[in-house]
Amino acid sequence: MNATGSELLEKLNWLSEYGKDEDGGITRFLYSKEWKDAQCALKEWLEAEGFRTHEDHVGNLFATIEGSEQPEEVILTGSHLDTVRCGGYYDGQYGIIGGALAIKKLVRERGVPKKSLQLVAFAEEEGSRFPTAMWGSKSIVHQVGAEDVRGLVDASGAVFEEEMSASGYELGVLTPKREDIATFVELHIEQGNVLEQEGLSVGVVDSIVGQRRLTITLTGESNHAGTTPMGYRKDTMHLASELISETLDQAREAGDPLVATVGQLQLGPNVVNVVPGKATFTVDIRHTDQEALTSFSEMVIANMKEKAAVAGIGIDVDLWMDAPPVPMSERVVTLMEGVCDKLALSYKTMHSGAGHDAQVFAPLVPTAMLFVPSKKGISHSPFEHTDEADLLAGVHALQETLFELAY
Ligand code: HGY
Ligand code: MN
Ligand code: MN
Repeated sequence: MNATGSELLEKLNWLSEYGKDEDGGITRFLYSKEWKDAQCALKEWLEAEGFRTHEDHVGNLFATIEGSEQPEEVILTGSHLDTVRCGGYYDGQYGIIGGALAIKKLVRERGVPKKSLQLVAFAEEEGSRFPTAMWGSKSIVHQVGAEDVRGLVDASGAVFEEEMSASGYELGVLTPKREDIATFVELHIEQGNVLEQEGLSVGVVDSIVGQRRLTITLTGESNHAGTTPMGYRKDTMHLASELISETLDQAREAGDPLVATVGQLQLGPNVVNVVPGKATFTVDIRHTDQEALTSFSEMVIANMKEKAAVAGIGIDVDLWMDAPPVPMSERVVTLMEGVCDKLALSYKTMHSGAGHDAQVFAPLVPTAMLFVPSKKGISHSPFEHTDEADLLAGVHALQETLFELAY
């Protein structure tokens, strides 16, 4: 195990302590105490390793090694610091720690780069706390602002701008839109089982699926569980269960690569002896093709509205994320393929079924991603795992990609 090997696992375990939860996973939500503590610890470590650090207006953390000849041209790498609830040890933070160690090794072995090498820990990507996703990367390119998030609340009723302020960032205060990013490369776990099934070490990502995220709110009538005959009920749970199973059956019928997920369901008042007058649930729909994504989601929404009308139950559909499928940069993909060949790493060029911050940058600057295998394709779970040899191969491929781009 070379120095980076033990250091890589040691630093992943170290960062995982921030937000470790009782189920053995990591819960590190945007602007939570765990997030802030992780941010401060990461900043301190990076400065000790010789990076110059700074933060922007929303809490994206940057760590820079100035280029000797074209310092104004930034080769950016990194990933997100936030996690899902009870997430794994690799989603997001692997790209941060792996990126830091790759840059550190390059500077130690090849000296100062010509272009600036910069690591980023995006403040938020998952959309797990508040109904907004990629707040970090979108803020860097001013694709999202105060008007998009002001007043958003999390499951506990905490308000976005209040949590942001408590973390030391004021909503609406803007740092300039970044124009100096020459290339963005993101190292990330695959979160699927393709590389493992095919016995490959690395995935070179050439496109990212489009996704739409909806929150459906049904408003019926809370009533007594014992005295309300079935025929007189406006039972939102009954309707929600019908709509959810229909949507998931329709997704199965549509076939791969379309996927649909209902990950969140809340009832009101959510007590055993009251007919639920309110049901709120989310739908996450993804496809590699924009037309297929649009037509499936429109069919789902039309069906839900029709069934709600028949049931005499109110329905509100909030489409709060609508991300198109995004191609990566052919030049950077080809460069990564050449690096894998040079390092004799087995690889395949593939699409990503997960969303990533890279999809925000790809329309603006040359961007691509490197994947490493996920054990049994499991992710967003404490059972998320990648073997050490694969983790190291990914860091090595990133290191050589950064070398080609910055030296
Ligand atoms: O949900 C996703 O696609 C990513 O893990 N945020
Ligand atoms: Mn991720
Ligand atoms: Mn994730």
